[in-house]
Amino acid sequence: MRSHTLSARVKRVKPSEDPDGLSARLNDLLVGQPEAIETIVPYVQMHQAGLSPEGRPVGVVLLLGPTGTGKTRTVEALAEILHGSSKNVLKIDCGEYQMEHEVAKLIGAPPGYLGHRETQPLFTQARINAVASEQSDISLLLFDEIEKAAPSLTRLMLGILDKASVRLGDNSTVNLERCLIFLTSNLGAKAIQRANMPDFGFEAMLTQETIDDTGRVHKIAMSAVRRKFSPEFVNRIDSVITYKPLGREAYDAILDHLLDNFGRLIQTRLGYRAFRLQCTPSGRKLLLDTGTSIEYGARELKRTVQRNFIQPVAALVSVGEIPPGCTVILDAKGSEFSILLRN
Ligand SMILES: Nc1ncnc2c1ncn2[C@@H]1O[C@H](COP(=O)(O)OP(=O)(O)OP(=O)(O)O)[C@@H](O)[C@H]1O
Ligand SMILES: [Mg+2]
Repeated sequence: MRSHTLSARVKRVKPSEDPDGLSARLNDLLVGQPEAIETIVPYVQMHQAGLSPEGRPVGVVLLLGPTGTGKTRTVEALAEILHGSSKNVLKIDCGEYQMEHEVAKLIGAPPGYLGHRETQPLFTQARINAVASEQSDISLLLFDEIEKAAPSLTRLMLGILDKASVRLGDNSTVNLERCLIFLTSNLGAKAIQRANMPDFGFEAMLTQETIDDTGRVHKIAMSAVRRKFSPEFVNRIDSVITYKPLGREAYDAILDHLLDNFGRLIQTRLGYRAFRLQCTPSGRKLLLDTGTSIEYGARELKRTVQRNFIQPVAALVSVGEIPPGCTVILDAKGSEFSILLRN
């Protein structure tokens, strides 16, 4: 391409920040991880424009960081937006393939080998195509907890990440050029947690100052990845995202999501017996105080809501004690939750 002096016919253009609203929709579902959204959306757009490189997956993205910070949720949220359901993800739990021979479950045993007829490989073209949809032809593939994979699975992944193809036990080939591949790992998460854990108390752990040092967190996580995987493997990853421990504001927003989901469940599942939900400020505060955990991330908040709101309400529903159309309110005094009914 030769360079020219700019003429009057030349117009400087800047791509619009979020042309199809994908970032905004992801931002609604995934709280407090803007780097993840900024990194992932361009791969989807590149594919939609038909400009993804040939002979490779749409993208290979490694998601690192502590437990319960939204790594898996990111992939589910993307599936919800692209395909209309969070279930449109082909998930491979690498923890299930820790022994060398177990990789046959994924690609099928070669003809003549024991179990050839019985093993239905997980990794068929049909299964990969089945997680795409009429709305979008991207198949989302998730290799969860890659640090647990047997070396034979890591070798298999090398081929997938590089050439977007894999040969099955029966010698057929599966094409993965329309797959956006996510790898998740907790490698380095302990070290990140330690680095974020000053000696003076719980509140200090959640200050923005400690968790906003993205560069440092990234370095810690990547050095753990380099220790575990070969340079060839690391070299096939297009982007690495390090998830930050969630701050109080993020927990607040996630609590809204959890309560909205519960409300939606009541409307869709209970039909004419449905009712409204509310939470008093003290009920909300106690949920957040009990459910905020640097160790378990938002999983702890999810459990807290389940134990103190969903389960007691379910118990009342099961004995018919909630009149249809009333409002069920979660309240708290001191460290005790209580449920109020308002007609
Ligand atoms: N950033 C977030 N935005 C919205 N919800 C979140 C976020 N992080 C966690 N959650 C909530 O917590 C649940 C658990 O999070 P998720 O499964 O994404 O954790 P993870 O980072 O994959 O952890 P692990 O390393 O243990 O697999 C999600 O189903 C979701 O309800
Ligand atoms: Mg996960």
